[in-house]
Amino acid sequence: MAKTFSTPVTPVACNLVDPKSALKPTSIRINDVPASFRLLKQKPAATVPPLADGVRVVTATEYKQAAACLAEAFGEDDVARYFIDVPDREHWSEEEKWALHVEILEYVTYAHILKGLVTTVGDFEAVALWMPPGQNMDDYMTIFRSGMWRLNYRLSPEGKRRFFDEFLPLLHDTMHTTLGDRELEAWYLVYIGTKPSGRGKGHARKLVEHVTRLADREGRACYLESSNASNPPIYRRFGFEECRTIQLQRGGRNIPLDIMVREPVPQGKKKGGL
Ligand SMILES: CC(C)(COP(=O)(O)OP(=O)(O)OC[C@H]1O[C@@H](n2cnc3c(N)ncnc32)[C@H](O)[C@@H]1OP(=O)(O)O)[C@@H](O)C(=O)NCCC(=O)NCCS
Repeated sequence: MAKTFSTPVTPVACNLVDPKSALKPTSIRINDVPASFRLLKQKPAATVPPLADGVRVVTATEYKQAAACLAEAFGEDDVARYFIDVPDREHWSEEEKWALHVEILEYVTYAHILKGLVTTVGDFEAVALWMPPGQNMDDYMTIFRSGMWRLNYRLSPEGKRRFFDEFLPLLHDTMHTTLGDRELEAWYLVYIGTKPSGRGKGHARKLVEHVTRLADREGRACYLESSNASNPPIYRRFGFEECRTIQLQRGGRNIPLDIMVREPVPQGKKKGGL
């Protein structure tokens, strides 16, 4: 489940390059990039762990298929619905709410294609969204290109309070408290979902092991938030352990999220069946 960005998103203007500074070429030296152009520079993409077991990287042209898989996997997830099933959207039909659910996952998936790592197995039977160590999707360019900025208009006032004022800060603070100095060193499993028809076939294991093999070699922790009480036993099989439980509290009943960390397994030593 997803800490998508750490700060509230504000609407992004289209003119990211300040025309005034673009008209001042005399102040530019070789290797001297004006601040307004620096916005366009992307961090180098993270190293993709070696592919195996039919795992492949999802490309930008496939973001809708990957998002559709996650939308199906998280169709009844309490946290995914937390921003949509709100009192000020009671008048919406289920079709409208589903469309928004899919739309949110399309933005999140696209942002991870741009700045993280999106993997799949089978014919989009399972999909994982990872944020590699030291990466995030907080920058305006990613928020703009992924469509994330539209959430400012698509979520209701209560949906925005839940998303921007409660969910994102809580996840951000919890990750910081849990990992401390290791926050920028860990792999973050933001979403993993297998379509109901594909479950129990080992898809999630393949997607998780694809990254944990590298994390082990590099001595890195992996981190996730589990939004479903039946999942921690599954993640324990991959070597994750529960650290704490946090609660979303604006919905009339508390919605728990289990915070789980997988410590790196020293080479030559196996843990959690891996
Ligand atoms: C959690 C989820 C991704 C697992 O996907 P999956 O492809 O069915 O998982 P796998 O087939 O790889 O099984 C993983 C392991 O969990 C075990 N397992 C599966 N269901 C289990 C259950 N109900 N209880 C205990 N263990 C279970 C499997 O035996 C397997 O262990 P093994 O490889 O040691 O035999 C999938 O159930 C899902 O998409 N759930 C809904 C979305 C969701 O909640 N995502 C996570 C939110 S953070």
